[in-house]
Amino acid sequence: MLEWLAFPLAIGVAAFIPKGKMKDETVIKQIFENKGVCIKRDDVLHYPNLKKKIQGEGYTTYLFSMPYGLHTEDIEDVLPAIKEALQKEVEIEVDGLLKIDVFHEQLPKKWDYEESLVRPGTWEIPIGKNHKGILYHDFEKYCHLLCGGVTRFGKTVFMKEGMNTLILNNPQDVGIYVLDLKAGLEFYKYKSLPQVKEVACDVFESAELLNQITQDLKNRELYFREKGYTNIVDTPIKKRTFIFVDEGAELSPNIVKSKEAKKYAEFCQAALSEIARIGGGLGYRLIYATQYPTKEAVPMQVKMNIVARLSFVCATGVASKVLLDETGAEDLPSIPGRAIYLVEKKRTVQVPYIDDKMMFTMMEERKDDILNVKPSGNNPTDNRPSRNRKD
Ligand SMILES: Nc1ncnc2c1ncn2[C@@H]1O[C@H](COP(=O)(O)OP(=O)(O)OP(=O)(O)O)[C@@H](O)[C@H]1O
Ligand SMILES: [Mg+2]
Repeated sequence: MLEWLAFPLAIGVAAFIPKGKMKDETVIKQIFENKGVCIKRDDVLHYPNLKKKIQGEGYTTYLFSMPYGLHTEDIEDVLPAIKEALQKEVEIEVDGLLKIDVFHEQLPKKWDYEESLVRPGTWEIPIGKNHKGILYHDFEKYCHLLCGGVTRFGKTVFMKEGMNTLILNNPQDVGIYVLDLKAGLEFYKYKSLPQVKEVACDVFESAELLNQITQDLKNRELYFREKGYTNIVDTPIKKRTFIFVDEGAELSPNIVKSKEAKKYAEFCQAALSEIARIGGGLGYRLIYATQYPTKEAVPMQVKMNIVARLSFVCATGVASKVLLDETGAEDLPSIPGRAIYLVEKKRTVQVPYIDDKMMFTMMEERKDDILNVKPSGNNPTDNRPSRNRKD
């Protein structure tokens, strides 16, 4: 009778061991076992083997050796299970060894943008805070950025934060065009800044503007050829031209209603593809945001030529795959500003918060720098559009 009781009792005790008492590394190993993250050789199962544990400030790194034949994707598939079991933020990287960073603190749910984030003279913008510090995106290294995620999770706030930083970083040398396809409600108010060259508010205005930009791009190509330049980062040219597209799906021929608008949308997508394809070396930087990261909303050439991605929470794993080439963004917590930044590897960040009032205050404080922009002459590397501005 007693023997009969002993077995179920043992199971019962094991099932109720409080998770908090189990070491993180034991939890990770158990998940590998339960989810079958292993390879079978000579009838023996080989799992990732813990080699080293390194204590960082606020996080622990576990280094596992990977049995040959196991792939990064096999580990990524079980990442949500590890996060859920540990109730902690976890990042993985495979570089010879499997490196698992387990962070002890949660990321902040919100933090405010402040002027100390500005890095004058560079083309870097803050992407967000992770457990190891503040990550920046450097447009000199990765010239374009694709951004997506469901409505109301921070795409426009991020774009404004980026625009604000670029202006404060390089008030003399930045030129900004905005396609604000929500009728200009977000960005039209910045049109009077000397750095903001034009704001297009619908598909027709976008087509007109992109037509000028691609003409300028061709002139710049000729100029570069004459000078023997290959990439703007290796030239003395300081100017850079940014094209922000907020809600790129509105330029999708499948979404616009009228026949006429479809033609304009097709033109816009072709122009954006050209900018993404050849603009980088010539000093054009594209920041393309969309709620609907579908094949129709993100033209193939745009996606293929943008390696840096920022994904806020996505509706489905399919949407996450379009943005990050992997699932994962659908599992982000429902926190505005929480996103996955992908450059070389994926990192979860909390994007700094900014609003119009904060931007106006910062710009007001720096108005001498921002408003006194010197005219930059009449060469193809000038940031001004090729026609006279109407305003
Ligand atoms: N980085 C952030 N930190 C904290 N809160 C944020 C952040 N970004 C956005 N929010 C909150 O979410 C709201 C919506 O943000 P935003 O307008 O940028 O979303 P969106 O993704 O552009 O939405 P839509 O696709 O509908 O245009 C903001 O008004 C703000 O309250
Ligand atoms: Mg928006």
